[in-house]
Amino acid sequence: MSNLVVIGAQWGDEGKGKVIDILAKNTNFIARYQGGNNAGHTVVIGSEKFVLHLIPSGILHKKKACVIGNGVVIDPKALIEEIDMLESKNIEVKGRLFVSENAHVIFPYHRKMDELKELIKGKTKIGTTKKGIGPCYADKVSRSGIRIVDLFDEKIFKNKLRANLEEKNKILKTLYDFEGFSFDRIYNDYAGYAAKLENFVCDTTELLNAAIKKKKSILFEGAQGTLLDVDYGTYPFVTSSNSTAGGACTGSGIGPTRIDKVIGVVKAYTTRVGEGPFPTEFGPDMMEKIRTKGGEFGATTGRPRRCGWFDACLVKHSVAVNGIAEIVVTKLDVLDELETIKICTSYRVKGKLYDRFSSSIRALDECEPVYESVPGWQTDTTGVTTFRRLPAKAKNYLKRIQKILNTKIVLISVGSDRKQTITVE
Ligand code: GDP
Ligand code: IMO
Ligand code: MG
Repeated sequence: MSNLVVIGAQWGDEGKGKVIDILAKNTNFIARYQGGNNAGHTVVIGSEKFVLHLIPSGILHKKKACVIGNGVVIDPKALIEEIDMLESKNIEVKGRLFVSENAHVIFPYHRKMDELKELIKGKTKIGTTKKGIGPCYADKVSRSGIRIVDLFDEKIFKNKLRANLEEKNKILKTLYDFEGFSFDRIYNDYAGYAAKLENFVCDTTELLNAAIKKKKSILFEGAQGTLLDVDYGTYPFVTSSNSTAGGACTGSGIGPTRIDKVIGVVKAYTTRVGEGPFPTEFGPDMMEKIRTKGGEFGATTGRPRRCGWFDACLVKHSVAVNGIAEIVVTKLDVLDELETIKICTSYRVKGKLYDRFSSSIRALDECEPVYESVPGWQTDTTGVTTFRRLPAKAKNYLKRIQKILNTKIVLISVGSDRKQTITVE
């Protein structure tokens, strides 16, 4: 039994939900440690499709315990809706979901500020999910945030909410000419949410450390992806948390010595939603083809995802900053029909070649990706269940990626269903 961190090694939507669902079988606890309901993790089981935003994908396995750690920002209304959705599908949540009392709470003013800030930015917008993630994390860091535990102390909650509304309403009026929010309405709504969530709330740090003491295993479910990490991503076109493996410790209260392995999930190509540089982005024809074949539309916002070739420079950066030991490659089947497949192995900037990711947004915007071409397999892989039975050219593509990244591919996904998964022996 070991403690694993599973992270997205590109710009999110790599198929983490499916991978967590597969790995959850062999673990006791599944814990989210950052992000909020900006995430959309899809799990397909037969004819049923589940999209989870806050609750770990492990909830779909009976008897597994799921944790929403202190590093997550929680919109309580969204959480209650997700619990209701699962219960309506006969999935037991009570007694299996544990929510950190230290997690920060998203309020309507966070969502409104997110939305209006993006609107004012116009062309320079980030393309956020408008779920209030950035403004909520900003309050956390500026020490004015309201935590889950605060909702249960009437005096503290009222004081904090009043202070926040006084500030937020002034900002909303002055900068965005928005009238602001009423104290009573928010107070009453949130007191109601707190009552509904009370039985789920606990000290999850203690829970997880006690579990480790009892030799139970934990699977940490990353949200977003490495290139959306606030420190290591394409800043400012990032989310507001540490989606990289280090976030698993700070976002759950587990020491780094407790983490046994980091697994990176990559798509066999690259996608991103929202604005920001994307060196290997396709031109219109390939974009349309792969978006349609891969169903590349956001699981949270429904926005079309931007698609491009596999970028090894970008994933090498992820391997380094996460300490990735093993890789899972998803959506291999989406490339099934292609005659030729490209892998970006370096960037050319002002005539010079770089094989590493750059922190300069300008360099990423202006660089010319240098590609290596490999032949496509032009065979349907969606029914393949062993590595041996993959077409030789598909194996070559995977081996080439593995070699460039200097990591091991341990799992390959060739379809959204649980069964469409190949374990590499
Ligand atoms: P996450 O945010 O990383 O969990 O990924 P999303 O759920 O947002 O997006 C991944 C999408 O790809 C979902 O619709 C999955 O059902 C789907 N998917 C996952 N693995 C595969 C695969 O191997 N092949 C195909 N065709 N679809 C997949
Ligand atoms: P999962 O967990 C893909 C992107 C947004 C935007 C940027 C900032 O499903 O992989 P935010 O609302 O977080 O302030 O938006 O981050 N983004 C995601 N892109 N997958 C996600 O989550 C994302 N969560 C946020 O599109 O570009
Ligand atoms: Mg997603």
